[in-house]
Amino acid sequence: MTTLSGKTVFLTGSGGILGTTYVRRMLADGAKVIASELPGARYEGLKEAFGQNDNFSLYQMDVSKEDEVVAVFEKILKDGHKPNVFFNNASITGEMLMKEGAEFPDFSNTTLESWNKTLSVNLTGPFLVAREIDRQVIGKWDLKLINIASMYALRAPHHDIYQGMPFKNFSAYQATKAGVHGLTLWLASYWRKKATVNTLAPGAVFNRHSEEFQKRVSALIMQDRMAQPDEIADVALFLSSDASSHMTGQFINVDGGYSAW
Ligand SMILES: NC(=O)c1ccc[n+]([C@@H]2O[C@H](COP(=O)([O-])OP(=O)(O)OC[C@H]3O[C@@H](n4cnc5c(N)ncnc54)[C@H](O)[C@@H]3O)[C@@H](O)[C@H]2O)c1
Repeated sequence: MTTLSGKTVFLTGSGGILGTTYVRRMLADGAKVIASELPGARYEGLKEAFGQNDNFSLYQMDVSKEDEVVAVFEKILKDGHKPNVFFNNASITGEMLMKEGAEFPDFSNTTLESWNKTLSVNLTGPFLVAREIDRQVIGKWDLKLINIASMYALRAPHHDIYQGMPFKNFSAYQATKAGVHGLTLWLASYWRKKATVNTLAPGAVFNRHSEEFQKRVSALIMQDRMAQPDEIADVALFLSSDASSHMTGQFINVDGGYSAW
């Protein structure tokens, strides 16, 4: 028996570096996977990579749009799926907020529009998904919800390491990642006999960063290196499985020791 047999996992923002790793590993571990993503190249990439697998289904969904989240939940249930593990994984990254060729804005030049956009995806999105779980699924079968935060949720970034880099660590990212753990705590208590709710906080995941950035960030990590996506997926699989049945309301760091220093 594989670890995730009997699990049907629903993920938001499934087409990114971590999302695609979760999908690949969960399918290999015997889960049914219901992926969702914005329309575009990442959605098409998921279709291309996993579309032939009978245990894989794919929906277009913008987590910040209330009508889309409601409609996709209705469609998933109508299509006969019975999701019992949910990942709030979609997130705005610094790159997504940047205008083509523009310099990454510092704090004083951060627009209200980009602040609100980050909140709508990183915090309102998980709320909309959780509310639909509550409206359409909770109580029908045992559930697990995993909210994805970051090493930059409860610990401050070292702004110096971004000096001269094309991207920066931005304020709304930290605020929303801390906020999502607040949602975890609230829901873990609210659904205490019906669902487990935990926060998974990945550390710095290697994604073709420059040598200089790798050197700077690694110096802040006990293990002196960035994570491989599969090392985050190992813990995502554990949290999706029955092996984590007595864990709820927890914040789980997978950061090579960044938060312990
Ligand atoms: N990669 C890291 O180093 C790292 C570190 C800590 C936390 N995380 C968190 O892990 C999660 C996955 O990160 P990743 O590195 O794979 O990022 P990524 O940018 O590769 O993936 C994020 C995905 O979210 C999708 N997305 C963005 N806006 C959306 C919306 N409105 N609706 C639906 N989907 C939307 C994007 O299209 C993208 O595929 C995120 O929550 C991120 O904050 C990543």
